Amino acid sequence: MIAVDPTLQAAAREDYEVGNLNGQVVVVVGGTGGLGQPITEALRRRNSTVITASRSLGADVKLDLRDSTAGDELVAYVKSRHHRLDGVVIAAGIVAFGDLVDTDDVTIEELLLTNTMGPLWLAKRVAPMLEESNGFFVNLSGVVAETPMPAMAAYSASKAAVSAATLALAKEWRRKKIRVIDARPPHTETGLATRPLHGTAPGMPEGLAPEVVAARIVDAIVNAERELSGADFGNG
Ligand SMILES: NC(=O)c1ccc[n+]([C@@H]2O[C@H](COP(=O)([O-])OP(=O)(O)OC[C@H]3O[C@@H](n4cnc5c(N)ncnc54)[C@H](OP(=O)(O)O)[C@@H]3O)[C@@H](O)[C@H]2O)c1
Repeated sequence: MIAVDPTLQAAAREDYEVGNLNGQVVVVVGGTGGLGQPITEALRRRNSTVITASRSLGADVKLDLRDSTAGDELVAYVKSRHHRLDGVVIAAGIVAFGDLVDTDDVTIEELLLTNTMGPLWLAKRVAPMLEESNGFFVNLSGVVAETPMPAMAAYSASKAAVSAATLALAKEWRRKKIRVIDARPPHTETGLATRPLHGTAPGMPEGLAPEVVAARIVDAIVNAERELSGADFGNG
């Protein structure tokens, strides 16, 4: 087992208390994506050490959320390189559109696996390190968790389920002193809607700028907020 330097931990906690993320080690799952990238940049501007994770070769850690054990490899990587973990942001997910009756079973399964099961499997595995650091866990669900949309039944279900789980974890992990945020951004111009697993996106009004959404999420981390509703992004 790798020993954790208590001085480093104490310093990290002190920085956090003054609203700074100086030197904190943060994993951004989906750090290669349209929201994950600006979140990574915003965290780095606050002097965090960010580890990106996704299926892409461009990520620091290559993992697939659909694999229940992906979090084990991630934890092993973080322990071996950084010895501690102060935060995890899950900004990874997929979308599909269309009437449910026209959506094949595999697409429905993929949505639930990636958007719901994956974050829960990962959360289990990072919890011990986050408890050690009194760190934070953020999951991006989405405004559809509050307002489910037609032609997005399975996507809405996957996000409502993971939102509920994240809100439950916010209470469950209070005694572990892990701060948990369910972030439910409205439509954001990342291009996600142009990359559906199935179907075509309905017409949508112009979405928010990814940098604005990323900045709001990082502010919520620094200010130890518990929840970010769609309205909290200024366009809910
Ligand atoms: N854009 C919006 O309007 C909006 C609004 C509310 C909530 N959200 C949520 O925010 C999250 C990020 O969305 P985005 O707009 O940034 O989408 P994006 O640009 O398509 O990025 C998605 C990210 O997720 C990663 N990913 C997808 N499947 C994965 C898997 N099985 N394992 C590991 N990583 C995986 C992708 O990397 P690889 O493909 O390399 O794995 C990529 O880094 C999603 O959960 C989305 O539902 C988005």
